[in-house]
Amino acid sequence: MSQRRLFVTTALPYANGNFHIGHIMEYIQADIWVRFQRMQGHAVNFVGADDAHGAPIMIAAEKAGKTPQQFVADIAASRTPYLDGFHIKFDNWSSTDSPENHQLARLIYLDLKKAGLVESKTIEQFFDPEKNMFLPDRYIKGQCPKCGAKDQYGDNCEVCGAVYAPTDLINPYSALSGAVPVLKSSEHFFFRLSDPRCVEFLQAWTQDGKLQPEVANKVKEWFSVRTNADGTTSEGLGDWDISRDAPYFGIEIPDAPGKYFYVWLDAPVGYLASLKNLLDRRGEDYDAYMADPRLQQYHFIGKDIVTFHTLFWPAMLHFSGRKTPDNIFVHGFLTVNNGEKMSKSRGTGLDPLKYLSLGMNPEWLRYYLAAKLNARNEDIDFNADDFMARVNSDLIGKYVNIASRSAGFITKRFAGRLGEEDPQAHLLYKLASSALNEVKDFYESREFAKATRTIMNLADQVNQYVDQKAPWLIAKDVARDAELHMVCTTAIGLFKDLTVLLAPILPRLAAQVSDWLGVDVQKWDSALVKLPAGHVIKPYTHLLQRVDVKQLDALFEPPAEAAPAQAAIESIAPGGGKNSTPTVGAGASFLPPEGADSALGRPGGERNLAPTVDAGASFLPPEGADSALGRPGGEDIAPTINIDDFAKIDLRIAKIVNCEAVEGSTKLLRMTLDAGEGKLRNVFSGIASAYKPEDLIGKHTVLVANLAPRKMKFGISEGMVLAASHADEKAQPGIYVLEPLPGAMPGMRIH
Ligand code: 2FM
Ligand code: ZN
Repeated sequence: MSQRRLFVTTALPYANGNFHIGHIMEYIQADIWVRFQRMQGHAVNFVGADDAHGAPIMIAAEKAGKTPQQFVADIAASRTPYLDGFHIKFDNWSSTDSPENHQLARLIYLDLKKAGLVESKTIEQFFDPEKNMFLPDRYIKGQCPKCGAKDQYGDNCEVCGAVYAPTDLINPYSALSGAVPVLKSSEHFFFRLSDPRCVEFLQAWTQDGKLQPEVANKVKEWFSVRTNADGTTSEGLGDWDISRDAPYFGIEIPDAPGKYFYVWLDAPVGYLASLKNLLDRRGEDYDAYMADPRLQQYHFIGKDIVTFHTLFWPAMLHFSGRKTPDNIFVHGFLTVNNGEKMSKSRGTGLDPLKYLSLGMNPEWLRYYLAAKLNARNEDIDFNADDFMARVNSDLIGKYVNIASRSAGFITKRFAGRLGEEDPQAHLLYKLASSALNEVKDFYESREFAKATRTIMNLADQVNQYVDQKAPWLIAKDVARDAELHMVCTTAIGLFKDLTVLLAPILPRLAAQVSDWLGVDVQKWDSALVKLPAGHVIKPYTHLLQRVDVKQLDALFEPPAEAAPAQAAIESIAPGGGKNSTPTVGAGASFLPPEGADSALGRPGGERNLAPTVDAGASFLPPEGADSALGRPGGEDIAPTINIDDFAKIDLRIAKIVNCEAVEGSTKLLRMTLDAGEGKLRNVFSGIASAYKPEDLIGKHTVLVANLAPRKMKFGISEGMVLAASHADEKAQPGIYVLEPLPGAMPGMRIH
């Protein structure tokens, strides 16, 4: 088959919060598909970006005391640990606030206008009389005009998926103030989806068989009768309101000062903008790339945003003279532990960073999700018991078991040299070769669950072969060396094939196996090639740990009860406590309220971190302190300070999300810390003599959060981690990083 050219995206996440497990599932699904395509030798550009615009982000930024640009930049900085942590390999991660997106969105709009598909109308829009502003769609709530569901947002219904204007809502109210909004006039721009050209094009585009059947059926409904808010009905598609009034964080509409594109207009353009950003950087021609008739464009999305991707987006592209997507791949939602609604305070959610910080293997999750995913847009459930059983039984009990039972003999008895494969195992080879074809089709059609079943079926057959031959018994008889050599070689050859089949799901493990076997198993064709007799492999080292139930317990352990801790804080804080820190408002609580979003810059529930103090206020022991008796820790207690002095130092609980050695330094470790701010910090600490980096990952510690950032040889250190040591380190060696008692959460302040 000739090389395919693929342009693949996942939905662009709003830049107002951390990734949740639903994002990670979508990215893993797309990443597996992309890795599979690459293994086939196809050329893929796989891009993502933050969806930066819109009123909610503008409002959240304001609350956090940041500009929207700063706010989204901070969110963007927090993405890497998730993506790297779960081996999700985008070629580019950009933002819809990029220059490329501003330019492309405007060009597309102007082309649509030229095509006669943009119309301006003065409309009545909801205005909050208490807040004195036009209300963004998401801040008007009410009953869905289509299905009657209560408390739905002003732009679409999360229950039935209907898309409508906020004025269509029944019994609307302002989500900002609770006031009943009043109608006020304003000029808006509309994309004329009701134009017969659009209707004809979209009917053909959505019903030509490319979409998943359940998606095509859903979309069909939008071409038929709609019920309006006033009870009247309209035929077919309604026009789409694509403008918003200032103040708005977005892209200003050409020749319309004070008017901005509605976020959903420029969000999908962000797919193209991220690609353009990537190609420009590589010195490749974006226009030529997009004009290539061989190019195939695919978007992975969740079922909640189908309308935007199957109606608005293809129409925008087609009528602006651009290429339309070849398909939209829609998945369902992920529920956790039998569909319980996720809630951090109840501890039923699955926090992706917590998963990683507990040392849980990202490939367990990749495998588990793959074993559940299919090509339909059905919801899937993460169930802790099922997860442990599936990973331990499939990956360890079936797959790794093959290698661990045969590899040792090759090293110990045959100096790492493989022998001939068993000619009598031809049925197994046949099975492996048909599995290769089946699994290829399953990956291509996103039937990952079927792929894993076929792979595990092959693993079962290989295990049966090993069971029957029982190399551990053959090994007892030196006269049967040749047989032992053959059986182990056969098992390892089939293990290689299994690894090729699993490589899109388990890329790190595949890389380990490539190194061990001395053959690149991340190429599909490696499954067709036999390892020749005499081929030398490295000594086997264990490939994968089992899931430990304790890790799952910790993963779903609810955060410690907040109330007693708060009482304790208040009882020891003189002068009312809460107001002793200048930046904390009288009403601010010490602990995050239910559902508080730490990404809003309120780690630990406080409005802001205390103002930055100078590095001179450091806690480091003075040089040359002696260790005479009566001087605890080898140094005198420092001069007395008052509570206001202490309050200047903002100490926060931080989780060590990552920790690594610093190349070129024997003293420093580089830590990535989560202090609940919705972004991560880079901190260097002189503790390399005392800790192995991996031993610190996942632990909580104490961070001086308002220490002025310090430029060091190896980068900028954004704070300091507290550690205890004797003043005379030579006399009493040892450095001890501080760790809070269990229950302390990132962002909590130390009072
Ligand atoms: O629903 C969402 O999270 C949107 N931010 C998805 C946008 S996808 C694309 F259009 F950018
Ligand atoms: Zn509805």
